[in-house]
Amino acid sequence: MQQITFGMIGGGTVGSGVFHALDRNGDLLAARLGVRVRLARIAVKALDEPRPYPIPAALLTTDWTAVVHDPQVQVVIELVGGTSIARKVVLAALELGKPVITANKALLSAHGGELFAATRKHGANLYYEASVAGGIPIIKALREGFVGNRITALYGIVNGTCNYILTRMQQEGADFAEVLADAQKQGYAETPPDLDIDGCDAAHKTGLLASLAHGFWVEPKRIYVEGIRHVSKLDLQFARQLGYTIKLLGIVKTLAAPKAKAGARIQVSVYPTLIPKAHVLASVNGIFNAVFVRGDVVGDTLFYGRGAGKDATASAVLSDIADAALDLAHGTHGRVPAFVPHERRGTVAPMDEVVSRYYVRLSVVDRPGVFAKVASILSGAGIGISSIIQPEGHEGETVPVILMLHDAPNAALQKALAKIAKLPAVKAPPVMIRVESCV
Ligand code: HSE
Repeated sequence: MQQITFGMIGGGTVGSGVFHALDRNGDLLAARLGVRVRLARIAVKALDEPRPYPIPAALLTTDWTAVVHDPQVQVVIELVGGTSIARKVVLAALELGKPVITANKALLSAHGGELFAATRKHGANLYYEASVAGGIPIIKALREGFVGNRITALYGIVNGTCNYILTRMQQEGADFAEVLADAQKQGYAETPPDLDIDGCDAAHKTGLLASLAHGFWVEPKRIYVEGIRHVSKLDLQFARQLGYTIKLLGIVKTLAAPKAKAGARIQVSVYPTLIPKAHVLASVNGIFNAVFVRGDVVGDTLFYGRGAGKDATASAVLSDIADAALDLAHGTHGRVPAFVPHERRGTVAPMDEVVSRYYVRLSVVDRPGVFAKVASILSGAGIGISSIIQPEGHEGETVPVILMLHDAPNAALQKALAKIAKLPAVKAPPVMIRVESCV
């Protein structure tokens, strides 16, 4: 049986997971592919670093260049993380004409343009199934399963840390800070947690999905991002009362093109979102990820699974290992190119123009005339109120007031909120969370 030899850079959590999964299912993979996969060398930070699955010392080195340049190594697996050494590893391998597998969404987000250009220049492919939503085969689904569809909407719960925190806040009525501290103690959240809870990790993944779905490279700076720090247990309680739950959603939606011959115009954003409790995404809880994709031919589809962790990520890397091995064995390295920019006129709509419904929580002094002033500012901005909740309080007390607002462009809403914030009866900056029915 033909054999393809791989070298791996990174032998930590994910790397040792890949080693273990290959050890366990290598024969199965060979039987299915008709090609045997051999992991010949693994570069690690330190030979004695702790790893969840042991790797035989004979395979290890601390010199990544030795692995990349090893003439036996036909494919390089990059599992270093970060964007500095990882970029060097990927470029060095591609320059040698060696295909590369990476799980690194931050690297692709920051340097995708350069790396994809290198794949074309050197005729070596880049495989990145593990970069988005861990074990969920969403990259394959978008590039192959849905190749005959225009993707009109995609909603992703793609950060397990945020989903875990929001789920516990919802289920336990707990505060953000309290759940975050506990999640860090239990290893469900990183220290520092900023990349996850400020939405950056979700933005890296959402940008990649948007680029693949729409055929033009979505620059990270065009993605509007809000994290979950400002979501309080009060918001989760009121959302529930109104029939919603709150999820950090990556949203990629096709908007109407402004002119007849203009290219695709899409919303690409990440923010906490009220979604109806009855929607399938509302039951995606804890560390789980899900991606809801609507295609113009297929209709609605849903992908659910573990978005992180050594085994789920290893499963995605194994899928890329299989593709790389088959492409080398059959000389089909360009069968599914890393990225095909085919929509040259595509644009990301500025957030100011994105229309949505809104949940707004105000802290106001309960006295006559306050609602009238708030309503007058909103109606002056052309924004309708669809519902109001105010728990019964005593006159003169500061109370929460919840407004559900009809569709309005972001710019109009922001301007109205700035005016509302200046009213003397409003005692804290308004909290605004967008509402998405995901239908
Ligand atoms: N930190 C990510 C998450 C996993 O919490 O989902 C790696 O992408």
